[in-house]
Amino acid sequence: MKKLILIVSSAVALIALSGCGDSPKSNTVTYKYTPAEVYKATCSHCHGDKGEGKAEKKAPAINKKIVQELELDLFDIKNGGLGQSTATEHDVMEHNMQKLTEKGYDYDIKAMANYIFNTFNINK
Ligand code: HEC
Repeated sequence: MKKLILIVSSAVALIALSGCGDSPKSNTVTYKYTPAEVYKATCSHCHGDKGEGKAEKKAPAINKKIVQELELDLFDIKNGGLGQSTATEHDVMEHNMQKLTEKGYDYDIKAMANYIFNTFNINK
């Protein structure tokens, strides 16, 4: 199953690469995995399957935040703590961001914030 996903996604990457010959550079970034896939493969280890958080990982619940809060948090996490939080555990993740990006586990902040809110928020 994992192999199949790899094959499919490399095929998609090839198609995407071959498609951008002469067109001017656009700002559209294509991500290898959807926010749901990234969440399942990485985030859920610490934040739980439903965003409920995991005490043993010191990861807070993210199922009560509104989209705007999530966006700010994720921006902070991806940009090395420019925001107000003291991103402790995510300091580590920032160093690993290169590796995560190489593996394709990058995501669009807005899309991820929307995914987390729509899928996990318990106050909606
Ligand atoms: C290695 C464990 C770990 C992984 C993997 C992880 N997180 Fe976190 N996350 C934490 C910890 C610990 C915190 C709290 C400290 C901090 O903000 O750095 C946190 C904080 C957050 C916050 C802010 C929550 C708050 O209340 O301040 C958000 C949003 C978040 N993570 C989203 C994600 C997403 C999305 C992913 C996957 C791309 C992810 N995290 C992967 C451990 C993890």
